[in-house]
Amino acid sequence: MDLFALRNKIIGFLYRNLAKKIFFAIDPETIHDQTLLLGSFLGNNPLTRALTSLFFNYQNPTLRQKILGIDFKNPVGLAAGFDKNGIITRIIPNVGFGFMEIGSITAEPYAGNDTTKLTRLIKSRSLVVNYGLKNKGAEEISKRLKRENFKIPAGISIAKTNSPKTADVRAGIADYAKGCEKFIDIGNYFTINISCPNSFGGEPFTDSAKLDKLLA
Ligand SMILES: Cc1cc2nc3c(=O)[nH]c(=O)nc-3n(C[C@H](O)[C@H](O)[C@H](O)COP(=O)(O)O)c2cc1C
Repeated sequence: MDLFALRNKIIGFLYRNLAKKIFFAIDPETIHDQTLLLGSFLGNNPLTRALTSLFFNYQNPTLRQKILGIDFKNPVGLAAGFDKNGIITRIIPNVGFGFMEIGSITAEPYAGNDTTKLTRLIKSRSLVVNYGLKNKGAEEISKRLKRENFKIPAGISIAKTNSPKTADVRAGIADYAKGCEKFIDIGNYFTINISCPNSFGGEPFTDSAKLDKLLA
């Protein structure tokens, strides 16, 4: 067994038998927020970044791919929804991810749905997600991320602001455009999130004619 395999076995064992037990004893939204704070702290210091790499990172030239002009160091990325406000972009490369998707971000900020935002379904090993696109909004997030020099490709996931004001198709398209404009010079690609089920007005742009209008 090589050193990386041994390291990963130990980390996996510690995760299953220690970290996961602690995480699951805590409310899921609280532990999500705490993990983000820890990630932000670890990312702000070269020493903690190097230590994180020692525990989690892995590089191998055979994993590299160039797609649409973007260099990916490996094909495993962090999906949208974990780092909604882009506060852990400095540590994610050291955790071993090949790319990261920030958001989903909306043109206007949203504090999140009033009901419980995350519920664990332990038996089916899943989560019920009801954040409703909680995020600090395109203006604030883009201002902060403009100063960042991303070490791996970053996708910006833009969604429609969760509000009755964006329910109309025209207003919805204007809202997406407003969100995207703020990130023109930030990151490597956009993802357009058209399928947030727990937001106002449902998913109008999953209809192909409306999606064509949005993309145009
Ligand atoms: C807590 C949570 C929040 C999420 N928020 C978003 C989001 O804001 N935008 C989005 O496009 N997907 C969101 N997703 C979906 C994830 O990006 C991903 O597609 C999904 O979790 C499936 O990937 P997985 O099997 O690796 O978890 C969220 C998922 C979870 C669990």
